[in-house]
Amino acid sequence: APDSPALTPPMGWNSWNSFGCDIDEDKIREAADAMVDSGMRDAGYQYVVVDDCWFDPNRDGDGNLRGNPDRFPSGMKALGDYIHDRGLKFGIYMSPTDSTCAQRTDAYPGDTGSGGHEVEDARTFASWGVDYLKYDWCSSWGTRDEQIARFTTMRDALRDTKRPIVYSINPNSFHAVTGDKYNWGEIADLWRTTEDLLDIWQNDNTNSYPMGVGNVVDVNAPLAAQAGPGHWNDPDMLVVGRPRLTLTESQSHFALWALMAAPLIAGNDIRTMSDDISAVLRNPRLIAVNQDSLGAGGRRVRDNGNTEVFAKPLSDGSVAVGLFNRGDSTATISTTAAQIGLSGGPYSLTDLWTGGTSSTSNTISASVPAHGVAAFRVSDGEPIASTTSRLRGEGSGR
Ligand code: DGJ
Repeated sequence: APDSPALTPPMGWNSWNSFGCDIDEDKIREAADAMVDSGMRDAGYQYVVVDDCWFDPNRDGDGNLRGNPDRFPSGMKALGDYIHDRGLKFGIYMSPTDSTCAQRTDAYPGDTGSGGHEVEDARTFASWGVDYLKYDWCSSWGTRDEQIARFTTMRDALRDTKRPIVYSINPNSFHAVTGDKYNWGEIADLWRTTEDLLDIWQNDNTNSYPMGVGNVVDVNAPLAAQAGPGHWNDPDMLVVGRPRLTLTESQSHFALWALMAAPLIAGNDIRTMSDDISAVLRNPRLIAVNQDSLGAGGRRVRDNGNTEVFAKPLSDGSVAVGLFNRGDSTATISTTAAQIGLSGGPYSLTDLWTGGTSSTSNTISASVPAHGVAAFRVSDGEPIASTTSRLRGEGSGR
């Protein structure tokens, strides 16, 4: 959105993928501690986001939101302080209608949603030190115009607090595949583009919940032109390190989200993750590609079925490349300098996994394991103006 505090894709951790509704202040504090102890904070992760079910299912006598007294007995302001004291930022969740997604289930009934309470709820969040709001449309009703109106009302209420608060929305029934396309970049800093991503490689039922990594890529990749500083496609939080992905699949998922300029919001239990998974999440070269100031969303420049090539132009004139093997056997995948928008050469290649360097006069090629992504930064070439501007999405608007 204009004046966005998210000039690069937000990085953080969110409670939903590991804990669902089963959250409390101890778990969130432990996650904040793990962000520091694991080195994630120093790698660039900032936001600790408390997803659905943090609140008392009923508002207080004055109509204000409050933390669930059993789960967050110290209160939300104290939790925000704990997070801020560790050099991190505080994110929270709410919905624009009369109840959150969980409250529509028997397990967590109630009606605390911010619809009609936007101004006071935005003030409450600001008073707690909230730095990031995930605002999740959960009702089956609601036309696109009604969604636009309610999402805009909260945007304005957040702005009126004068506190920089990243605004992350989920328009749910108006995702790219499930409803009319709409570009939310004037309203929000990031917006969900798909149904929920689970720790599944890919399934046949591409458009509906739950989606796998490959399904989400298919929906989000064509939206690359919408990405840019302050307005990001959100292909959902990371499932890196969740139980049903192999290490290779977690690596590929992370590389693809880095290349697509997606928010990097970890969802695994970072208190207990393995060193291998921690290293994936903290890969400095892929994070630099994701956080590049140009903010280009990586494009899929070639799709041969199971083998695909992604290219993301970077601010220094180099290009990040991903060679993606969806299939079940090792494949050699190749691209050329021209295909990724470079001429001249010879080119320097930096392997974004190992940091190792090599050079090539034209072809960029790798043997990629099943479900793998080989990734390189290609530098020392001359950007081809027409290709680069197409890759950057220029002229396509927000
Ligand atoms: C639906 C969203 O897509 C999820 O990320 C999560 O926020 C749940 N709602 C919470 O109920």
